[in-house]
Amino acid sequence: MNFKITGTGSYAPTNTVSNDDLAKFLDTSDEWITQRVGVRTRRVSTGETAADFAAKAAQNALEMSGIDAKDLDLIVAASLSSDFACPTVAGTVQAKIGANCPAFDVNSACSGFLFALDTAAGFFARGTAKKALVIGAERISKILDWTDRSTAVIFGDGAGAAVLEASEDGYLASTLYTQGGDDVIRIPNTHGTSPYFKPETEDTPYIYMNGQETFKFAVNVMCRDVNIVLDKANLKIDDIKYFVPHQANMRILRFAEKKLKIAPDKIFANLEHTGNTSAASVPMALDELNRSGNLKKGDLVLLSAFGGGLSSAACILRW
Ligand code: ACO
Repeated sequence: MNFKITGTGSYAPTNTVSNDDLAKFLDTSDEWITQRVGVRTRRVSTGETAADFAAKAAQNALEMSGIDAKDLDLIVAASLSSDFACPTVAGTVQAKIGANCPAFDVNSACSGFLFALDTAAGFFARGTAKKALVIGAERISKILDWTDRSTAVIFGDGAGAAVLEASEDGYLASTLYTQGGDDVIRIPNTHGTSPYFKPETEDTPYIYMNGQETFKFAVNVMCRDVNIVLDKANLKIDDIKYFVPHQANMRILRFAEKKLKIAPDKIFANLEHTGNTSAASVPMALDELNRSGNLKKGDLVLLSAFGGGLSSAACILRW
C-alpha cells in the first residue's frame, strides 16, 4: 500500500527577528544577509520548545485532513534541537494531541523530514499503518552560537507536519543519502561529567558549519537526487508542478534552478520570512504552498533536502 498527504500544518513562534535586529549585536548587515542568504526575518522562540511547535503544526494538519488524533497508527518526528532527549518530540506530540499509537523521532539534520516520510512509507508498505503523522520540528535557536555571525543569521525556529493516509498511489519515488563525517557540519552534545571520560575535543554544543563546503555539497546532491527520483518515477523535470526544496539559502536554490533547468515559478521558496528551519523547512514550505490553494489534486510535487550528516534526500509525491 502507498499513501497520500491529506493534510498539512505548520507553526512558528510569534517573535519575529529581523536582520537589523541581529545587526544590533553581530557584525553583520541586512544587505549582507539578504544578498548572501536571502533571509529577511526569522522566528525565534521565547519560551516554546520544538515539541510545542510540533504539536501545534500537528493539530493544524489533522484539522485539514479531518482525522481524529485517536485514529492515527503512527507518529514520526524529525528534530535535532529537542529540549528533551526523552521523551521524544513525537511522544510529546502524541500526549498533547491525544493520540494512542507508536511515536518516535528520527534525526538526519535538515533532511530529517524526508527520512521520516520514507520511514513512514515502510509502515504503509507493510500494511502496519493506514493513518500517520510525520513532523519536522526545530528550536534551532537553542543550538546556535549567537556570537557566530556565519550561522546565527541563517536559521529560524518552527515546525511543519503532514497527515498521511493509505492510498493506491501517492509516494512515487524516493532516495536517501548519507556521507558520514563531522568535518563540514557538526553539533556536539555535552560530554557530561563522568569522571572516567576524557573528551578528545572541547567543542561547544552549538552548530559548527563550513558554509562554503555545505554550499558545494548542497548544489551537487540536490541536482543528483532530483535526477535519481525523476528516473525512478520515469518522469521529466517538466512533469513536476512544484519543486519544494530545503530552505537553506536562496543562492543554492538559484544554482539548482539553472543546473536542473527548472522554471523559476515552479520553485517554492519561503526562507525570506522563515530562515533555515532545518528539519521543519520542507514541511513548513509544503504547508504554505498547500494553503496558498495552488496545489491541485494530481499535481506532481518534488521535495528535496540536504544538511548535516552529511545527508540528503528527495521524493516525488502525486497530490
Ligand atoms: N555578515 C557579514 N559578513 C559575514 C557574515 C555575516 N553574517 N558571515 C560571514 N561573513 C563574512 C565572512 O567572514 C567573509 O569575510 P572575509 O572575506 O573577510 O573572510 C565573507 O563574509 C565571505 O564569507 P563566506 O563564508 O565566503 O560567505 P558565503 O558567501 O559562502 O556565505 C553562508 C556564507 C551563508 C554560510 C553560505 O556559505 C551558505 O549558505 N552555505 C550553505 C549553508 C547551508 O545550506 N546550511 C544548511 C545545512 S545546516 C544543517 O544541516 C544544520
